[in-house]
Amino acid sequence: MKHLIILAHPNPASFCSSLVKALQEHLAEAGHEIQIRNLYGIGFDPVLSAADFSSFADSKIPDDIAAEQEYITWADHIVFAYPVWWGGMPAVLKGYIDRVFAEGFAYEYTSGGAKGLLSPRKGSTVCSTGEYSEKYGTVHNAMNLISGEVIFRFTGIEPYKQLFYGGVPSVSDEVRKSYIQNAIEEFSK
Ligand SMILES: Cc1cc2nc3c(=O)[nH]c(=O)nc-3n(C[C@H](O)[C@H](O)[C@H](O)COP(=O)(O)O)c2cc1C
Repeated sequence: MKHLIILAHPNPASFCSSLVKALQEHLAEAGHEIQIRNLYGIGFDPVLSAADFSSFADSKIPDDIAAEQEYITWADHIVFAYPVWWGGMPAVLKGYIDRVFAEGFAYEYTSGGAKGLLSPRKGSTVCSTGEYSEKYGTVHNAMNLISGEVIFRFTGIEPYKQLFYGGVPSVSDEVRKSYIQNAIEEFSK
């Protein structure tokens, strides 16, 4: 399977960055193809601008968006990996979706309503939180609704794994390692 991991964390020493590195190593060893797009590392511009809209109106795709769309086209499985910031994804990832999952590429409007264009891909989220998961069920449900339905299903992507790792700044190194092991096992199935 071809996995594309979109990482949205500015700190290479963070739990999310370590988790993605470990996933990359293990999936590659297991014979999977894997590409990582580190949005801070590549300096992705997350602002959907007036210039973007005028390019789209002229049927042109800005180069940085076209480059990311090629990765999406390549992938069978798209994974968003990020820390939960104020109950959602970091702004850079929201902006990536605003710009890259554009009309005409990720969805289109038909007489019957909106139609997703990215099937038959799968989509997953891997999130770390400061709060413990036991206390955060309603937030998980709200976030799963946004990523699973509003983003993935709307664009024709089948929601696959929605993983949360809780209390990340508070738990021991051992627990953080067990979280990473769990993510590897989930994606190796
Ligand atoms: C700007 C900001 C907003 C945050 N908002 C939340 C939040 O809404 N809920 C939560 O559980 N943790 C929140 N946190 C804590 C982070 O989710 C937590 O520190 C992170 O997941 C730890 O993993 P990391 O090492 O990969 O950053 C926030 C942290 C920052 C910096």
